[in-house]
Amino acid sequence: MSRSSRIKDIQPFHVMALLARAKELEAEGKDIVHMEIGEPDFPTPAPIVEAGIAAISQGDVHYTPAVGLPELREAISGFYLERYSVSISADRVVVTPGASGALMLTLGVIMQEGDEVLLADPGYPCNRNFVRFLSGKIRSVSVDATTGYQLSLKHLQNNWTDKTTVVMVASPSNPTGTLLSHSELIKMAQFVKEKGAYLLVDEIYHGLVYEGDVDTALTADENIIVINSFSKYFNMTGWRLGWIIAPEVLVKDMDKLAQNIFLAAPTPAQYAALAAFNSETTTILESHKDEFKRRRNFLLPALKKLGFTIEVEPQGAFYIYAKCEKFTNDSYQFAYDLLENIGVAVTPGKDFGENKANIFVRFSYTTSIERLEEGIKRLTTYLN
Ligand SMILES: Cc1ncc(COP(=O)(O)O)c(C=O)c1O
Repeated sequence: MSRSSRIKDIQPFHVMALLARAKELEAEGKDIVHMEIGEPDFPTPAPIVEAGIAAISQGDVHYTPAVGLPELREAISGFYLERYSVSISADRVVVTPGASGALMLTLGVIMQEGDEVLLADPGYPCNRNFVRFLSGKIRSVSVDATTGYQLSLKHLQNNWTDKTTVVMVASPSNPTGTLLSHSELIKMAQFVKEKGAYLLVDEIYHGLVYEGDVDTALTADENIIVINSFSKYFNMTGWRLGWIIAPEVLVKDMDKLAQNIFLAAPTPAQYAALAAFNSETTTILESHKDEFKRRRNFLLPALKKLGFTIEVEPQGAFYIYAKCEKFTNDSYQFAYDLLENIGVAVTPGKDFGENKANIFVRFSYTTSIERLEEGIKRLTTYLN
């Protein structure tokens, strides 16, 4: 039986195979320190869980409108006003099954076959696959420490072709945790607007920035399409809920496509998320954020002391993208060696692109300080 050529080009996450091996080792009784996992280890805050359970008990389990529960769209609009002092009409909010659904829906509406999409390498791996799935062309731009591992105006100018229609960025980024500066973003938005193209900003890690306040990209230009999610800051990965803030002209098409490809985001999750912005939940989430910061402040100097190079300090998310060339020029093999020999799981650079991926690994601090200390202890013995 034949398969579509597009599916053959789509890459799985390499870290999933590594995680499967880690689980096998655990089943054999080995103790594994998990620094490969890209989701918060905290449970969903109780007020959200209770709201979800109440919704199910009351029978709120039917489809919502494809663009989301009106109350949730209003609540998200209120969140932008409160958190960023920016007024976004609820009509511009499209609720989706995670940021994944948001990315797919957005690209499905704005991209034509053969269009070129500019994105950073290293970057979130699924973006390349979404573009491929929609028969677009991926134009990966190698980024480095000089721009904080983010695309810049110069990158856009140097890589633009008459086929380029979309630019995708994530701030903070996965895997580097680095931010795109607001002044650079404004310049990029202006450039993209002049070209009549789209700028997509993934703000999924926005709630997890450890120093200073960051502006949403929506304050730079109202034509920017912003993607966000309840997965990371809100500790709701498995509830599968995210959103888009789109220019109003796109919402009708997003509605039409959402009706067809997923009907609507999960209903109990949408009711649960109504409790995501209240003060009780915010207090819990901010304490989780403080804990992530404490972990980052432990892990960053510890990795440097071991001999990993971290050229740009991550300002957010829960990742450290570390150069490991002192130890290897095959970070994929290195990740397996660490797993097999000392039970430390990390993600090889290969998952994030091809740009010097062989000398990078990503550490996630989605486990307790005590476990991170244990990981560092094992790495110290092994690498020395
Ligand atoms: C940058 C980025 N965007 C989007 C996603 C997808 O998140 P979700 O679909 O859980 O909201 C992730 C998940 O790791 C991510 O790192």
